Amino acid sequence: MTQLSSRPACPFVAGTRRPDEPYPGREAWRDAGPLVLTEAPAGGPVAIVTTAALARAVLTDPRIVKDTALAPAAWDPRDAGLEPTRAQALSLTTAEGAPHAALRRAHAPMLSPRRIRSRAGAMRDAARELLDGLGPGPVDLVADFTTRYPLVIVGDLLGVPRAMLDDAVDACRRMFGDAADGAAAMGAFARLGAAAMAHDGLARELRERLPASVTDDDVHYLLFALIFAGQLTTDAALGFLLARVLIDGRPENTVALVDAVLRRDPPAPFTLWRFTAEEVDLAGVVLAPRTPVLVDLAGTADDPDAGPGAGLAFGAGPHVCAGIHLARAELAAVVDVLVADFPRARLAIPAADLRRVDPGTIGGSRLAALPVAGLGR
Ligand code: HEM
Repeated sequence: MTQLSSRPACPFVAGTRRPDEPYPGREAWRDAGPLVLTEAPAGGPVAIVTTAALARAVLTDPRIVKDTALAPAAWDPRDAGLEPTRAQALSLTTAEGAPHAALRRAHAPMLSPRRIRSRAGAMRDAARELLDGLGPGPVDLVADFTTRYPLVIVGDLLGVPRAMLDDAVDACRRMFGDAADGAAAMGAFARLGAAAMAHDGLARELRERLPASVTDDDVHYLLFALIFAGQLTTDAALGFLLARVLIDGRPENTVALVDAVLRRDPPAPFTLWRFTAEEVDLAGVVLAPRTPVLVDLAGTADDPDAGPGAGLAFGAGPHVCAGIHLARAELAAVVDVLVADFPRARLAIPAADLRRVDPGTIGGSRLAALPVAGLGR
């Protein structure tokens, strides 16, 4: 394992750069080997996997788990961006083994390719309606579209009333605020979940597929995970995708473009936190129990072992993104609507002036703004 001590090699640095500019120092970091030790944002070492082959091994290794109870004791859960532990909340993202597989089975029908295909027209309608509502512009699609659209899509799917859209937008934004904001956001998400379960939608279907021992509060948390995971990622991806379309024009193959953008600019550049549950020998290096492990998904874009299409942008193994079909379909729907229904849409600033903002955490970067003119029809 290579230890990099020079500051520029650390990817957890907040900053602004051009969309095509690589993370500072990241190339050297990748050249350093399949496993790199660096400083975690919340302190202490983190082992980062840089190759697709080792990533696939780690993402299917039952000794490397997501229960945040195994996070270093010194970490502040909020500063570190940790979810509740497996004991504190029932969650796809922290459960493992048979309980995790059972939860995935309960979610699977609502997010299946067939189910998602049946909603393609509704996704295009939603994109058209939201873009129409913006007027001819210039408008900033990052401020006024990319956050709302994924929430409309996932909300419609689950049965969240459209009247609660502003509450959902506000809750997602507050997730990045202070502790009070975080608590307020979770309260709002619980209300969104309760409202969805009162309607005829997939939230209720999910409830019915879960054992009776699962409480309504548990279901609210599961719904929160779908809403937030679906918004956060698709929001960021939309900025890069729409910028590409506005710069290059109508794509020959929308799905291929979506995958290419996700591969190059994955909205989750790293996996979520994992921790060694015991001593683990990884690529010849012995990691102590409770060592934090991340996979550099963004770093595998040029790695042939990442596979075709979007590569590892959606992860791999048992925790591979549960919303993969939904995400790809909703992104493709926006591209199709933009080129078909808004042919005069164009960037309102030179492409060279676009900037991406890195949050300085394991989270992904997003465009600072995407000013667009010519949206009128
Ligand atoms: C472009 C959009 C998206 C990308 C790139 C993405 C990426 C990912 C990645 C990399 C993981 C695995 C993290 C890990 O192993 O630590 C993940 C998990 C997950 N994603 Fe997505 N995601 C996207 C959209 C969505 C959407 C739309 C939903 C649902 C509405 C969703 C729901 C989830 C859930 C529930 C998990 C946890 C799965 C589990 O642990 O079993 N994602 N996603």
